[in-house]
Amino acid sequence: MNLSRSLSIVCLFAMSIASSAQPQDKQLKAQPAHPVPSVQDTETHAQRDARMEWFREARFGMFIHWGLYSVPAGTWKGKQIPGIGEWIMNNGSIPVADYKALAPQFNPVAFSAHDIVALAKSAGMKYIIITAKHHDGFAMFDSKADPFNIVDATPFKRDPLRELAAECRKQGIKLGFYYSQDQDWTAPGGAAYKTGDHQPPTFHWDKAQDGDFATYLHTKAIPQMKELLSNYGDFPAIIWFDTPTKDMTPALAGEIVALMNKYPKLIWNNRLGGGYDGDTETPEQFIPPQGYKGRDWESCMTINDTWGYKSYDTNFKSTETLVRNLIDIASKGGNYLLNIGPDAQGNVPSAEVERLQQVGRWISVNGESIYGTQPTLFGDEAGSYNSSEKDSKGKPKFIPAWNWRSTTTADKIYIELFTWPTGKFHLNKVPRTVTSAYLLADPSHTPLKFTQTSAGLDVELPSKALDPIATVLVLNTEK
Ligand code: GLC
Repeated sequence: MNLSRSLSIVCLFAMSIASSAQPQDKQLKAQPAHPVPSVQDTETHAQRDARMEWFREARFGMFIHWGLYSVPAGTWKGKQIPGIGEWIMNNGSIPVADYKALAPQFNPVAFSAHDIVALAKSAGMKYIIITAKHHDGFAMFDSKADPFNIVDATPFKRDPLRELAAECRKQGIKLGFYYSQDQDWTAPGGAAYKTGDHQPPTFHWDKAQDGDFATYLHTKAIPQMKELLSNYGDFPAIIWFDTPTKDMTPALAGEIVALMNKYPKLIWNNRLGGGYDGDTETPEQFIPPQGYKGRDWESCMTINDTWGYKSYDTNFKSTETLVRNLIDIASKGGNYLLNIGPDAQGNVPSAEVERLQQVGRWISVNGESIYGTQPTLFGDEAGSYNSSEKDSKGKPKFIPAWNWRSTTTADKIYIELFTWPTGKFHLNKVPRTVTSAYLLADPSHTPLKFTQTSAGLDVELPSKALDPIATVLVLNTEK
């Protein structure tokens, strides 16, 4: 990868941010002429609404980063390799042959598609996205297109994607596939992002990686994407691309788009490259201050500090943080894609299981304030920009506030209270007439006293929160 490639990555990123700030109508028209028009270029707004409907209602999904990197689990030749677990090959400059030698050691017999899907369901998640192939090039599915895959190269010989697809169907939840279409560190010609002292123009660290990108795409990535799109019945519901480089020209990306156009219900993200915006913005490891106007979006986040399993990363986020992130995201109209990283046996770390189940307990009581809701009618509650503190781009930094958030439906306003107000909860301006109020966690929905005047709304609350993480106040409303 040379400087211009790095620059073009930055530009792609900047472009996607710029386009996301535009209203939907304009954004549709402003699309550059693509060599192959994508579904987003040709469909009507009504068609897009129908295609995106389940995704917009879902609000909460499970990301699974699982692959060969769970075998070294963050340690190579006795040394802990800094960085995220699934990048160990790149960060540790591991030669292709040495990395491929991990495959015979990968035998995740504890893997249970049933248990993972049941875990997602118990957490209240409505879809799962699993890494079908990450940047290391190892396919976690039965691939005739390339032998470096879990069925042909490991003693396990099973296809976890097939098993997950069957379970997702049985348990009524959607399944999507992450596919690293551009970076591939074990296939000749696959791209690599710059890391450490790896040299331009390719940033490869092993001669075995050198080759022609278009050939890689034609002999591995596109054939594997065909397999993923046609071998799993009604799945994938989503294709989740990642880390585009300038190698992915509009023409090459167009070939992938032509393939995806055969699957009119498919949703895909903004990381294909080649100038395609896809369906979703994908803020990574952060929640945008105000969402993305006119664009669907999904914040993907780790549960500790890595996507792929690292044996010594125990910096798990608290259940409180996870629930609050979900509420914060829902209040801005996005989805929360929360990651788990199973280990080399196929077990989900118990700290991750516990937290997901605890999130599920909150959702089982309060889920109606999340699923299928619309963003806040207010806005200032999310926080404010501080002009004296700058963010990494030199812009005023957004400082979130954590007192409350709000979500809405046609006839309800939900207020998710993080900080319990003493006595009364006050809102200055409520754009609807409130007809009654109660707490969602109160099984009898006892009506709460309230007054609504030109000075705003006051609701009388009991002395203690019903839930220490977030107690949801429901306001029934008329327009
Ligand atoms: C990044 C990383 C990757 C991870 C992804 C999740 O782009 O390259 O390892 O899969 O983010 O969003």
